[in-house]
Amino acid sequence: MSKKKTTPAQPSLESWTSNRSLINWIRKVRELCEPDNVWFMDGSKEEYECLIEKLIKAGTLIKLNEKLRPGSYLARSSPGDVARVEDRTFICSKNKIDAGPTNNWKEPEEMKKILDSLFKGCMRGRTMYVIPFSMGPIGSPIAQIGVQITDSPYVAVSMRVMTRIGKKVLDILGDGFFVPCLHSVGMPLSKSQKDIPWPCNAENKYIVHFPETREIWSYGSGYGGNALLGKKCLSLRIASVMGRDGGWLAEHMLILGITNPQGEKKYIAAAFPSACGKTNLAMMTPTIPGWKVETVGDDIAWMKFGKDGRLYAINPEAGFFGVAPGTSLKSNPNAMATIRQNTIFTNVALTDEGDVWWEAMTDTPPAHLIDWQGRNWTPDSGERSSHPNSRFTAPASQCPSIDPAWEDKAGVPISAIIFGGRRRDTVPLVLEALNWKHGTFLGASVSSEMTAAQEGVVGKLRHDPFAMLPFAGYNMGDYFQHWLNIGEKSSPSLLPKIFFVNWFRRGQDGSYLWPGFGENSRVLKWILERVSGEGAALKTPIGYLPKKNALDVEGLNITKTALDQLLKVDKEAWIKDLEHLRDYFKLFGDRFPKTLSEELNELERKLKEKNTKKDAVLKEAP
Ligand code: GTP
Ligand code: SPV
Ligand code: MN
Repeated sequence: MSKKKTTPAQPSLESWTSNRSLINWIRKVRELCEPDNVWFMDGSKEEYECLIEKLIKAGTLIKLNEKLRPGSYLARSSPGDVARVEDRTFICSKNKIDAGPTNNWKEPEEMKKILDSLFKGCMRGRTMYVIPFSMGPIGSPIAQIGVQITDSPYVAVSMRVMTRIGKKVLDILGDGFFVPCLHSVGMPLSKSQKDIPWPCNAENKYIVHFPETREIWSYGSGYGGNALLGKKCLSLRIASVMGRDGGWLAEHMLILGITNPQGEKKYIAAAFPSACGKTNLAMMTPTIPGWKVETVGDDIAWMKFGKDGRLYAINPEAGFFGVAPGTSLKSNPNAMATIRQNTIFTNVALTDEGDVWWEAMTDTPPAHLIDWQGRNWTPDSGERSSHPNSRFTAPASQCPSIDPAWEDKAGVPISAIIFGGRRRDTVPLVLEALNWKHGTFLGASVSSEMTAAQEGVVGKLRHDPFAMLPFAGYNMGDYFQHWLNIGEKSSPSLLPKIFFVNWFRRGQDGSYLWPGFGENSRVLKWILERVSGEGAALKTPIGYLPKKNALDVEGLNITKTALDQLLKVDKEAWIKDLEHLRDYFKLFGDRFPKTLSEELNELERKLKEKNTKKDAVLKEAP
């Protein structure tokens, strides 16, 4: 950076906003947290550059080679702050039952006491950044406004990439409602103390939501999902409660537009658990000729009914916080182009040329790297160079496949919803739900092998209904009922059709049976054909499966055995799965919808039926 950036002059609180509740909240926080300075963010480029310079000076960011990776930076987190912390995440509803059996809970007043004492003086020696942000295009009727206060400049610059921030948000907010989001890294500094590049409080993290009063308090972590409070905290945990109350949906879903060779375009939303393929599907390059996929969002969808009775979705975010490892020119060229410049990388490896690298970015790793913990690395180090949950933070507008309607305030009409998980067995490549109720049952039945996106045991199979287990801000039993209610609000012909996919089925040797990535376009093609009533399907106990030859595998190098395995209904395995599922559903007690118990019973009955006639072949969608 050539010119020295000076900290912009700060306005007084009252000249900055006239929103009374915002003024009062900022005053209260300032008194509680005792920061050295307050910085009201305007969202300008100059401000961003000033913060970046500060972060470089502090050693938080390393500037990458301007020729190879213009405007881009590398951050290395503290090794104890690399993922979401689900066991430190709380839903503090007044009554425990309203948080449900899958969320951590504490009585709100009791939690407030804990937080008050943690936040007391927690910003000493630091600057407090005040960031007004909009989740969703500014002024969209589906959008929501939040204000984040944070003492982390890394979080402040990341919020500018991931959301729409600054003056223009304040203008639209006026005297209106906003979600207060308070964040601290939980590491105050005394006058004589020197700061470290990645301050956090590894032993004492709290990610807390008060769903009834729509408040968020986050302490001790600087990692994305714990600290960028517009993302999982507001857009899923708080928004899911808003959606329950207002008759709409806040989901852990990508949104993509897909156009067939005839030029017909439709939009699809898909929910997979963390690190299970949303970014990749949202940006995929179809391998089948004449098809085009465009990206609206890669992680979160908010869906509301339009006047025409269809569900319209917006992506509340403005950037991508994507998994780096596995991203390559082969697997996801659109992501690689998106992160060519103006990108913040966290916990990836640094090359000798001042660029970034991660596992599977190229076939041959560089001969020497600095790994994500700042140590020398060579291919025979026997360790990974980048953390498995290392991430890139990049503006969505840089994505070559970004959809022309991605900022449309009205959202895009959704024709199909897909659920999926990471399953080595049991679940076939694709199936279609019989109807909305059955689709809701399928969503509730999602299980997936755990990934590095959260602290925990990677590979362990766990129930993750709707890919929302860590993100539902209320009782998941009520959440299931909400989905059933949504299905009653419109006619079946207007509701999206529901599908289930599994890209992660493995063969006996442990390798993936399905090539995935761009080849997933073949599955999307069948899904679209089903939506328009053309695709051929078999009616099986678990749902509609592609009829023989209905899945376009032309030019695909796959054995018949693999394909048979991918599209087989393994009745024994399903019956076993249902036993686990029945146990799991018991957790929700009388909050579990009867309708879903009936779906489960009916499915079990069909699977156990002796000598079922060869399943009926359907030519048209019913
Ligand atoms: P979050 O950002 O955590 O919500 O993750 P995500 O759902 O967006 O997952 P992402 O697309 O980043 O993929 C996570 C990992 O799965 C990456 O390492 C990908 O390379 C891998 N992956 C994605 N799609 C496929 C696929 O079709 N097949 C296989 N085998 N792997 C995939
Ligand atoms: C996920 O874990 O699902 C993510 C990354 O998308 S985070 O923002 O950390 O939640
Ligand atoms: Mn996610």
